[in-house]
Amino acid sequence: MTDTCRNNRFWAIVPAAGVGKRMGVDVPKQYLQVLGKPVLQHTLERLLAIDVLAGVVVALGSEDGYWSDLPCATHPKIRVAPGGKERADSVLSALTSLENVAEPDDWVLVHDAARLCITISDVQKLIDRLRNDEVGGILALPVTDTLKGAEAGEIVETIDRSRIWRALTPQMFRFRMLKHALTDAAERKLIVTDEASALELRGLRPKIVEGRPDNIKITRPEDLPLAAFYLERQCYE
Ligand code: C5P
Repeated sequence: MTDTCRNNRFWAIVPAAGVGKRMGVDVPKQYLQVLGKPVLQHTLERLLAIDVLAGVVVALGSEDGYWSDLPCATHPKIRVAPGGKERADSVLSALTSLENVAEPDDWVLVHDAARLCITISDVQKLIDRLRNDEVGGILALPVTDTLKGAEAGEIVETIDRSRIWRALTPQMFRFRMLKHALTDAAERKLIVTDEASALELRGLRPKIVEGRPDNIKITRPEDLPLAAFYLERQCYE
């Protein structure tokens, strides 16, 4: 490992500017309660327990009226940035806010606010596997179901699942490379739903690190009790 590698710092970015339409409630999903705490508070507590992180940037919606009530809103390692129209815009805004403090080769771990069951062991595994990598990579899960391609309600093919992975977060990339890739995708008006896709569009090949299946994203109402179940179980591991 070179000296530069050893000195690279690690930052986290938490896009939390979504409205969570699929939940069917007025409160954005990152502020719904699980085991007596908002989803985002759970997520941030877990990230703040990772000592190696130099800081955590949370991207917030312009009309967010809930953030200041969160206990960790005043934590010294946390800073906020304005969110954007799409997830990628929120991440780019958070990256821009780090421009004067992050070095080009520092690592950035982007983690969805709605993935509150993230474990320290999974984040540590991602960091350990990728910290000497040129490009970086993501936590992901192999699919277990048989996959079908369908048209107009009829199956037209069975897809080879041996090469299919579900992309999770955190996704870990170098500051400058990620910022360039997201800026480029935005300028070309290409939709990217995760950070890895932005790097893939530049011909790069992010690594896959297998993550835990309990790293779920709150998307629908039934995910809330499932997250509570996982959080309680993780306490006893
Ligand atoms: O809606 P979805 O679950 O894909 O959102 C993933 C993450 O991106 C969530 O944490 C959400 O708050 C965030 N997001 C954002 N800015 C947007 C849209 C989503 O920060 N414009």
